[in-house]
Amino acid sequence: MTKAAAPSIDHLSESELIALLDPALLPKHIAIIMDGNGRWAELRGLPRIAGHAEGIKSVREVITLCRDLGIGALTIYAFSQENWKRPVSEINALMLLLEQYLQSEMDALIEKGARFRAIGQVHALPPSALNWVRKVERETAHLDKLMLTVALSYGGRSEIVDAVRRLAQDCKDGKVQPDAIDETLLEGYLSTQGLPDPDLLIRTSGETRISNFLLWQLAYTEMYFTPTLWPDFRRREALLALLDYQRRDRRFGAVPTPHFPPSGL
Ligand code: IPE
Ligand code: IPE
Ligand code: MG
Repeated sequence: MTKAAAPSIDHLSESELIALLDPALLPKHIAIIMDGNGRWAELRGLPRIAGHAEGIKSVREVITLCRDLGIGALTIYAFSQENWKRPVSEINALMLLLEQYLQSEMDALIEKGARFRAIGQVHALPPSALNWVRKVERETAHLDKLMLTVALSYGGRSEIVDAVRRLAQDCKDGKVQPDAIDETLLEGYLSTQGLPDPDLLIRTSGETRISNFLLWQLAYTEMYFTPTLWPDFRRREALLALLDYQRRDRRFGAVPTPHFPPSGL
């Protein structure tokens, strides 16, 4: 629920938008479903992969913005388990793009102090892409300004199944007592272990579904859906999402704090 009708901010410049942000109310962790690359390309009569390539520029801008604003964690959905259903030619082109991105971006990530980590069934990636994933993970492992998590061959349900399987094994081995299992313990088996839950989920391209992303972690996340296609989602669009987020009243099931005492009290 928003607090009051928002005044129009469409005409404001980027620096004016930044000035409107309350630094104390920034999300600690943003998750993004980067959707609409294919449509962006099709609208221009280009092959779908041209949309994916253009989308990388948005990734770059959003990482830089998070870094500039001191947002500590960004998790982006780059390839879902379900995306293996796509034509082999698109999958191959995406994997090549991933590899090229990691190769060309590693120094920039280090310079930004960003730690890169992949989540998902990464063993399913082609070996050369997986090698780059592991290399960039290693080279950035000591950095802590921004935790950049990239979901690759990721599915939220299989993440939970995998966590439960390992937890069951630990019970069987006597390392964990079933009575000791609680939410915190189970969270420790998820691939996002150590990260706070996302405060804000952004999905571009007008789709209003989660598509098997971070099913456990999004329990109380604020959702922001925009029709903007991912390659058009740049710094300004991200600032608009942050301002929208800052207008939310996050109650977590409690009652809102009254602005004045109810009469009679
Ligand atoms: C998102 O863009 C990128 C991936 C899923 C890899 P899409 O490729 O889904 O683009 P649309 O939704 O078809 O426009
Ligand atoms: C979700 O987008 C996955 C990623 C952005 C990587 P999709 O385009 O694959 O999702 P659906 O098919 O619209 O649910
Ligand atoms: Mg899509």
